[in-house]
Amino acid sequence: ESIRVYAPATVANVACGFDIFGFAVNHPGDEVVLTKSSTPGIRINEITGDDGRLPKDVLKNTAGIAIMKYLEHIGQPDQGFELSLHKDMPLGSGLGSSAASAVAGVFAANELMGKPLSQKELLPFAMEGERVACGSAHADNVGPSLLGGFVIIRSYDPLDIIQIPTPSDLYASIVHPQIEVNTKDARRILEREITLHKTITQMGNVAGLVAGLLLPDYQLIGRSLVDVIIEPARAILIPQFDVVKAAALEAGALGCSISGSGPSLFALSKGKETATRVAAAMAAGFHQVGIGTEEYVSEI
Ligand code: HSE
Repeated sequence: ESIRVYAPATVANVACGFDIFGFAVNHPGDEVVLTKSSTPGIRINEITGDDGRLPKDVLKNTAGIAIMKYLEHIGQPDQGFELSLHKDMPLGSGLGSSAASAVAGVFAANELMGKPLSQKELLPFAMEGERVACGSAHADNVGPSLLGGFVIIRSYDPLDIIQIPTPSDLYASIVHPQIEVNTKDARRILEREITLHKTITQMGNVAGLVAGLLLPDYQLIGRSLVDVIIEPARAILIPQFDVVKAAALEAGALGCSISGSGPSLFALSKGKETATRVAAAMAAGFHQVGIGTEEYVSEI
């Protein structure tokens, strides 16, 4: 018995919502092929698209650890699985690469075990994969990769995840510059204490973005895509950040910020045509200094 599962890349934070907002894109993504085996234990037989960089050791691999924690939870720790993982997205890119593998793995395992858990109940196991990959069990990538669409993590303890609808003409442009930022490092440089003034500004934008998505009000979405806490600290990790962001806005984007912990940047736009133009303008900002890019345009 075997299953093939695709889990999409995600944009976490969405400017103002550090660790609490994320959305899924159509592509790129990861594919897992999982096969039940009568030999106990999980074996990762093949990983493609990672240039040999990801661990095949189950305890170090996000998909492996997520499946293992899941099997322990459902009381079937000895169930055997053969796994192959096909990565179709850049690693260390801020597009939720580790999350997509964990989500595809645990979703596949749940299907093969006869779906004892609901989709939402799978989240904590995918989050364990994130803990292994970047030292923190955040859910703003695994949440949207598992559930789709735009996701809010209202609370981590207890876990409270909400999916909200998005306007039909909202598109994301994502540009991945060919440099790498390690999420662990990008979290370590963040300030631990935040002023009341910045907190108020950020809360206003968080509320504004949710309202903008629900109303829907594209201009309000644009005004709310502002991050006064995390982006200023992380922008220094991304060459050309200011140039690329300005290019996105100039080309008609509603707003632009860092995707997850970077180095990818994302912009939101009304309409696919604008989003396509925005992606090209952003990419050109990196090309100016000889940094190669991959661009993706997706509806949300
Ligand atoms: N919210 C996380 C962070 C996402 O920004 O560190 C990491 O992809």
